[in-house]
Amino acid sequence: MSFSGKVAFVAGGGGGMGLAIGNALIAHGVHVAFADVKPTPMDIAPGPGNHLYFEGDLTDDGFVKGAIDSTASGFGGLDYLINTAGVLWFDRDKSVTEMDMDVWDQVMAINVKSFALTARHAVPHLKRRGGGAMVHFSSIDATGGDTPTQDAYGASKAAVIRLAKSLAIQFAGDNIRSNVILPGGTLSPMQERWADDKDAQDRAAGFVPLGRLGTTDDMADACLFLLSDAARYITGVELPVDGGITAHV
Ligand SMILES: NC(=O)c1ccc[n+]([C@@H]2O[C@H](COP(=O)([O-])OP(=O)(O)OC[C@H]3O[C@@H](n4cnc5c(N)ncnc54)[C@H](O)[C@@H]3O)[C@@H](O)[C@H]2O)c1
Repeated sequence: MSFSGKVAFVAGGGGGMGLAIGNALIAHGVHVAFADVKPTPMDIAPGPGNHLYFEGDLTDDGFVKGAIDSTASGFGGLDYLINTAGVLWFDRDKSVTEMDMDVWDQVMAINVKSFALTARHAVPHLKRRGGGAMVHFSSIDATGGDTPTQDAYGASKAAVIRLAKSLAIQFAGDNIRSNVILPGGTLSPMQERWADDKDAQDRAAGFVPLGRLGTTDDMADACLFLLSDAARYITGVELPVDGGITAHV
């Protein structure tokens, strides 16, 4: 896969998967802009690609436009958009029959509106380059009901799939591809409940045909494939990267 000279914007780049994807792209010579509400992580890869870091709220239209436009002006254009920002609030995201609907609104804003805003402001730059690729992170949780119930998260992740497909058909004529990754359970800061609990990790891994939880590198490898020219005829698909969980009936 050749990425030399390309430019990427990674929304949620301070998180587990976003950082792994950004670092993998930097290692391939891509210039990467990370955007996250968190402060700059210490472990951004040193090169050969360069990087920028934008700290702010991706539900804020002004912040998103400013960060994406600055990326394109700083690095001379934009080729890739990767949407990984998301929240899964185990304690507050419940059944719609009982949850606080302000929480519903916040989850939808972070998991869906941030994606709409990044796409809205990235597409004009991708068009200017003569094409590009987007990868958006949904979840296997988008495909059916789950227990414990997290209705806002599941509905938001289903919305990600639908919006990604719409973007795929709207901009295929501009040589812009839009695909979705559906991770299964993956060790990252989002799943800090598993961090120091080997028994819980083993129990969760017991549901995975490949016998282990996912890693952020598993997600980065799949993402780089979908961004690359090796995936040049793939657009509008959702790819489970879940060790086979969704292969079960
Ligand atoms: N880890 C898993 O098991 C898992 C499983 C399925 C899907 N996913 C999805 O994959 C994506 C990446 O997950 P992860 O495991 O790397 O999670 P993570 O929590 O490590 O990263 C998510 C990042 O989003 C950022 N973010 C949240 N709200 C923001 C906002 N308003 N503005 C800017 N940044 C904001 C967080 O600060 C965080 O750094 C998420 O969309 C998640 O829903 C994760």
